[in-house]
Amino acid sequence: MDWGQRNRLSKIIRPKDGRTVMLAVDHGYFMGPTSGLEQLGAMVTPLLRYADTLMVTRGSLRHYIDPDVDIPIVLRVSGGTSIIGKELLHEGTVCSIEDAIRLNASGVAYSIMVGAEFERDTILGFTQYVDEAQRYGIPVVAVTAVGKEMVRDARYMSLASRMAAELGADVVKTYFVKGFENVVECCPVPVVIAGGKKLPEQEALQMAYDAIHAGAVGVDMGRNIFQSPNPVGMMKAIHAIVHKNATVKEAFAVFQS
Ligand code: R5P
Repeated sequence: MDWGQRNRLSKIIRPKDGRTVMLAVDHGYFMGPTSGLEQLGAMVTPLLRYADTLMVTRGSLRHYIDPDVDIPIVLRVSGGTSIIGKELLHEGTVCSIEDAIRLNASGVAYSIMVGAEFERDTILGFTQYVDEAQRYGIPVVAVTAVGKEMVRDARYMSLASRMAAELGADVVKTYFVKGFENVVECCPVPVVIAGGKKLPEQEALQMAYDAIHAGAVGVDMGRNIFQSPNPVGMMKAIHAIVHKNATVKEAFAVFQS
């Protein structure tokens, strides 16, 4: 990894503690006006001071986020299917590396569908993008998307995460599962967890805590933050778990305060 790529990666995973709170608000690329993100700019702006990185689409960035803002961007660059279509997550490239650079992205995010019908297409699209991103020193976050028919267990997540890393990912985003230590141990690049569907706040905080203590470098969380009745409280609580080693009890007190 050359200097530029390492420098960009340091904007995503903070060198002071090797951890990251990524705020994920890229859901609109396949879900449209996701609950909580109807007015994306108004939702996101007060949350940014507690985030290390914003994961977003190019359209959201241009329409909702002030270019003067001080937040590193991980740009969603795969897509092509919708939540109502017949081929959910049969993704390909939806944003060129040149546009990612124009938007000053610190990294890009690309989904792969291991074990699903479209795994070959998504993996070849991903590896082609890795080649392009490498050319310009842009780190790639592999999103190990999980099809409805896939079993979310440590065996599957280990397979998908390790494949993503071996195929060129700089960071792997996956889901927290029982036995997550094995997923992290077998993955040679940093691992972050997605939040998934909205959970009661204490459960979401417990998941973040367990993931960090199993070796994840952070979270890439969306719905459990912006669909909470207190999104700023959730951001502060997640930040406390990731960067201040807070317990779940302490973090929940932060949320309530
Ligand atoms: C989905 O693939 C999107 O990339 C989201 O950014 C990701 O799922 C994280 O958001 P959430 O915590 O809502 O699952």
